[in-house]
Amino acid sequence: MTTTKQRTSHRTWTKDSYFISTDPALVPIAELNAVFASDLFYWADALPEDVMRETLNNSLCFGMYESSPANSNTLPIGLLETGTTESKLIGFARCITDSTTFLYLTDVYVDPGMQGKGLGAWLIKCVQEVIEEMPHLRRSLLFTSSWEKSVPFYEKLMGMSVLECQKPAEGEKGSGVAIMQMRGPAFPDALR
Ligand SMILES: CC(C)(COP(=O)(O)OP(=O)(O)OC[C@H]1O[C@@H](n2cnc3c(N)ncnc32)[C@H](O)[C@@H]1OP(=O)(O)O)[C@@H](O)C(=O)NCCC(=O)NCCS
Repeated sequence: MTTTKQRTSHRTWTKDSYFISTDPALVPIAELNAVFASDLFYWADALPEDVMRETLNNSLCFGMYESSPANSNTLPIGLLETGTTESKLIGFARCITDSTTFLYLTDVYVDPGMQGKGLGAWLIKCVQEVIEEMPHLRRSLLFTSSWEKSVPFYEKLMGMSVLECQKPAEGEKGSGVAIMQMRGPAFPDALR
Protein backbone atom coordinates (compact mmCIF):
# COMPACT_ATOMS: atom_id res chain seq x y z
CA MET A 1 0.00 0.00 0.00
CA THR A 2 1.31 3.45 -0.81
CA THR A 3 0.56 6.57 1.15
CA THR A 4 0.01 10.04 -0.24
CA LYS A 5 2.48 12.69 0.80
CA GLN A 6 0.45 15.57 2.20
CA ARG A 7 1.55 19.21 2.22
CA THR A 8 2.30 19.31 5.92
CA SER A 9 5.38 21.52 6.11
CA HIS A 10 5.16 25.12 5.04
CA ARG A 11 7.85 27.38 3.61
CA THR A 12 8.62 30.94 4.67
CA TRP A 13 10.80 33.62 3.07
CA THR A 14 11.54 36.98 4.66
CA LYS A 15 12.81 40.24 3.20
CA ASP A 16 12.93 43.57 5.03
CA SER A 17 9.58 43.84 6.81
CA TYR A 18 7.81 41.38 4.53
CA PHE A 19 7.36 37.66 4.58
CA ILE A 20 5.91 35.05 2.26
CA SER A 21 4.37 31.86 3.62
CA THR A 22 2.92 28.81 1.91
CA ASP A 23 0.65 28.16 4.91
CA PRO A 24 -2.96 28.57 3.68
CA ALA A 25 -4.17 28.91 7.27
CA LEU A 26 -2.47 32.32 7.50
CA VAL A 27 -4.46 33.80 4.61
CA PRO A 28 -7.21 36.14 5.86
CA ILE A 29 -10.23 35.01 3.87
CA ALA A 30 -12.17 38.30 4.01
CA GLU A 31 -9.14 40.31 2.85
CA LEU A 32 -8.39 37.93 -0.02
CA ASN A 33 -12.07 37.86 -1.00
CA ALA A 34 -12.03 41.67 -1.18
CA VAL A 35 -9.16 41.39 -3.67
CA PHE A 36 -11.00 38.71 -5.66
CA ALA A 37 -14.04 41.01 -5.81
CA SER A 38 -12.02 44.04 -6.93
CA ASP A 39 -11.25 45.29 -10.43
CA LEU A 40 -7.65 44.10 -9.91
CA PHE A 41 -8.88 40.50 -10.30
CA TYR A 42 -10.69 40.95 -13.59
CA TRP A 43 -10.53 37.14 -14.00
CA ALA A 44 -12.25 36.18 -10.70
CA ASP A 45 -15.08 36.89 -8.27
CA ALA A 46 -15.33 36.58 -4.51
CA LEU A 47 -16.18 33.11 -3.21
CA PRO A 48 -18.31 31.99 -0.28
CA GLU A 49 -16.01 31.89 2.75
CA ASP A 50 -16.07 28.10 3.15
CA VAL A 51 -15.44 27.62 -0.58
CA MET A 52 -12.50 30.04 -0.47
CA ARG A 53 -11.04 28.16 2.49
CA GLU A 54 -11.39 24.86 0.64
CA THR A 55 -9.84 26.40 -2.48
CA LEU A 56 -6.83 27.59 -0.50
CA ASN A 57 -6.46 24.30 1.34
CA ASN A 58 -6.38 22.48 -2.00
CA SER A 59 -3.84 24.89 -3.53
CA LEU A 60 -0.18 25.60 -3.00
CA CYS A 61 -0.60 29.15 -1.66
CA PHE A 62 1.94 31.94 -1.41
CA GLY A 63 0.62 34.67 0.90
CA MET A 64 2.75 37.81 1.13
CA TYR A 65 2.46 39.83 4.34
CA GLU A 66 3.79 43.13 5.61
CA SER A 67 5.83 43.01 8.82
CA SER A 68 7.26 39.78 10.12
CA PRO A 69 5.30 38.30 13.01
CA ALA A 70 6.81 38.65 16.46
CA ASN A 71 8.98 35.66 17.35
CA SER A 72 9.19 34.58 13.73
CA ASN A 73 12.74 33.40 14.35
CA THR A 74 11.71 30.94 17.02
CA LEU A 75 8.14 29.93 16.24
CA PRO A 76 7.30 27.74 13.27
CA ILE A 77 5.21 29.92 11.04
CA GLY A 78 2.50 27.28 10.89
CA LEU A 79 1.79 27.82 14.56
CA LEU A 80 1.03 31.45 14.06
CA GLU A 81 -2.47 32.46 13.15
CA THR A 82 -3.23 35.63 11.29
CA GLY A 83 -5.25 36.89 14.23
CA THR A 84 -2.23 36.67 16.52
CA THR A 85 0.09 38.66 14.25
CA GLU A 86 0.21 42.26 13.10
CA SER A 87 0.72 41.04 9.55
CA LYS A 88 -1.31 42.36 6.66
CA LEU A 89 -1.90 40.51 3.41
CA ILE A 90 -0.18 42.51 0.64
CA GLY A 91 0.19 39.93 -2.09
CA PHE A 92 -0.78 36.46 -3.14
CA ALA A 93 -0.20 33.72 -5.69
CA ARG A 94 -1.43 30.17 -5.81
CA CYS A 95 -0.58 27.04 -7.72
CA ILE A 96 -3.11 24.38 -8.56
CA THR A 97 -0.92 21.30 -8.61
CA ASP A 98 -0.52 17.62 -7.77
CA SER A 99 2.89 18.73 -6.36
CA THR A 100 4.64 16.31 -8.69
CA THR A 101 3.82 16.35 -12.42
CA PHE A 102 1.73 19.43 -13.20
CA LEU A 103 1.28 22.98 -11.95
CA TYR A 104 -0.97 25.87 -12.94
CA LEU A 105 -0.09 29.32 -11.57
CA THR A 106 -2.93 31.78 -10.97
CA ASP A 107 -4.33 34.62 -8.81
CA VAL A 108 -1.04 36.55 -8.70
CA TYR A 109 -1.23 40.05 -7.24
CA VAL A 110 0.58 42.67 -5.18
CA ASP A 111 -1.38 45.40 -3.38
CA PRO A 112 -1.57 48.39 -5.79
CA GLY A 113 0.03 50.66 -3.15
CA MET A 114 3.04 48.34 -2.93
CA GLN A 115 3.59 47.62 -6.62
CA GLY A 116 6.75 48.58 -8.48
CA LYS A 117 9.10 47.80 -5.55
CA GLY A 118 10.21 44.37 -6.63
CA LEU A 119 7.72 42.50 -4.42
CA GLY A 120 5.97 40.83 -7.36
CA ALA A 121 9.32 39.60 -8.69
CA TRP A 122 10.20 38.26 -5.23
CA LEU A 123 6.84 36.47 -4.96
CA ILE A 124 7.34 34.79 -8.34
CA LYS A 125 10.92 33.83 -7.46
CA CYS A 126 9.61 32.04 -4.34
CA VAL A 127 7.05 30.21 -6.49
CA GLN A 128 9.84 29.31 -8.90
CA GLU A 129 12.01 28.00 -6.05
CA VAL A 130 9.28 25.54 -5.06
CA ILE A 131 8.66 24.53 -8.68
CA GLU A 132 12.36 23.76 -9.12
CA GLU A 133 12.08 21.20 -6.31
CA MET A 134 9.69 19.04 -8.38
CA PRO A 135 11.87 16.58 -10.33
CA HIS A 136 8.89 14.85 -11.97
CA LEU A 137 7.26 18.04 -13.21
CA ARG A 138 6.19 17.85 -16.86
CA ARG A 139 5.10 21.46 -17.25
CA SER A 140 3.82 24.59 -15.51
CA LEU A 141 1.17 26.72 -17.15
CA LEU A 142 -0.47 30.10 -16.70
CA PHE A 143 -3.03 32.17 -18.57
CA THR A 144 -2.79 35.94 -18.85
CA SER A 145 -4.70 38.66 -20.64
CA SER A 146 -2.25 41.38 -19.65
CA TRP A 147 -0.06 40.92 -22.74
CA GLU A 148 2.42 43.72 -22.79
CA LYS A 149 3.33 43.57 -19.11
CA SER A 150 2.79 40.00 -17.97
CA VAL A 151 4.40 38.11 -20.86
CA PRO A 152 7.87 39.68 -20.41
CA PHE A 153 7.44 39.49 -16.60
CA TYR A 154 6.98 35.69 -16.61
CA GLU A 155 9.50 35.17 -19.42
CA LYS A 156 12.16 36.94 -17.38
CA LEU A 157 11.36 35.56 -13.92
CA MET A 158 10.31 31.98 -14.65
CA GLY A 159 11.61 31.22 -18.10
CA MET A 160 8.02 30.79 -19.27
CA SER A 161 7.29 31.07 -22.99
CA VAL A 162 4.10 31.75 -24.88
CA LEU A 163 2.49 28.48 -25.99
CA GLU A 164 -0.55 30.01 -27.59
CA CYS A 165 -1.97 33.50 -28.10
CA GLN A 166 -5.58 34.31 -28.75
CA LYS A 167 -5.65 38.04 -29.31
CA PRO A 168 -9.06 39.52 -30.09
CA ALA A 169 -9.52 40.34 -33.75
CA GLU A 170 -9.62 44.00 -34.78
CA GLY A 171 -12.83 45.58 -33.46
CA GLU A 172 -13.68 42.55 -31.29
CA LYS A 173 -14.39 42.97 -27.57
CA GLY A 174 -12.36 41.27 -24.84
CA SER A 175 -8.66 41.11 -24.16
CA GLY A 176 -7.94 37.57 -25.36
CA VAL A 177 -5.53 35.28 -23.58
CA ALA A 178 -1.92 34.14 -23.73
CA ILE A 179 -1.16 30.64 -22.49
CA MET A 180 2.37 30.49 -21.13
CA GLN A 181 4.31 27.34 -20.39
CA MET A 182 7.51 26.33 -18.68
CA ARG A 183 8.77 22.82 -19.38
CA GLY A 184 9.70 20.80 -16.32
CA PRO A 185 12.51 18.24 -15.99
CA ALA A 186 10.06 15.43 -16.91
CA PHE A 187 8.67 17.13 -20.02
CA PRO A 188 7.96 14.20 -22.39
CA ASP A 189 10.45 13.72 -25.23
CA ALA A 190 7.56 12.83 -27.53
CA LEU A 191 6.23 16.38 -27.25
CA ARG A 192 9.51 18.22 -27.79
C1 LIG B 1 1.88 41.67 -11.73
C2 LIG B 1 2.16 42.25 -10.36
C3 LIG B 1 1.96 41.13 -9.33
C4 LIG B 1 3.62 42.72 -10.29
O1 LIG B 1 3.86 43.15 -8.95
P1 LIG B 1 4.94 44.29 -8.60
O2 LIG B 1 5.22 44.23 -7.15
O3 LIG B 1 4.51 45.59 -9.17
O4 LIG B 1 6.19 43.72 -9.42
P2 LIG B 1 7.69 44.23 -9.42
O5 LIG B 1 7.80 45.54 -8.72
O6 LIG B 1 8.52 43.12 -8.91
O7 LIG B 1 7.97 44.36 -10.93
C5 LIG B 1 7.23 45.26 -11.68
C6 LIG B 1 7.12 44.63 -13.04
O8 LIG B 1 5.90 43.89 -13.12
C7 LIG B 1 5.45 44.01 -14.44
N1 LIG B 1 4.07 43.56 -14.55
C8 LIG B 1 3.75 42.29 -14.92
N2 LIG B 1 2.45 42.16 -15.01
C9 LIG B 1 1.90 43.34 -14.68
C10 LIG B 1 0.56 43.78 -14.58
N3 LIG B 1 -0.47 43.00 -14.87
N4 LIG B 1 0.34 45.05 -14.18
C11 LIG B 1 1.37 45.86 -13.88
N5 LIG B 1 2.67 45.48 -13.96
C12 LIG B 1 2.92 44.23 -14.36
C13 LIG B 1 5.73 45.46 -14.77
O9 LIG B 1 5.75 45.65 -16.14
C14 LIG B 1 7.11 45.68 -14.13
O10 LIG B 1 8.09 45.39 -15.07
P3 LIG B 1 9.49 46.20 -15.09
O11 LIG B 1 10.12 46.03 -13.74
O12 LIG B 1 10.27 45.55 -16.19
O13 LIG B 1 9.10 47.62 -15.37
C15 LIG B 1 1.26 43.48 -10.04
O14 LIG B 1 1.45 44.44 -11.03
C16 LIG B 1 -0.22 43.17 -9.94
O15 LIG B 1 -0.69 42.76 -8.88
N6 LIG B 1 -0.98 43.42 -11.01
C17 LIG B 1 -2.43 43.30 -10.96
C18 LIG B 1 -2.86 41.86 -10.96
C19 LIG B 1 -2.35 41.14 -12.18
O16 LIG B 1 -2.46 41.63 -13.29
N7 LIG B 1 -1.75 39.96 -11.95
C20 LIG B 1 -1.05 39.18 -12.96
C21 LIG B 1 -1.94 38.58 -13.93
S1 LIG B 1 -1.02 37.40 -14.92
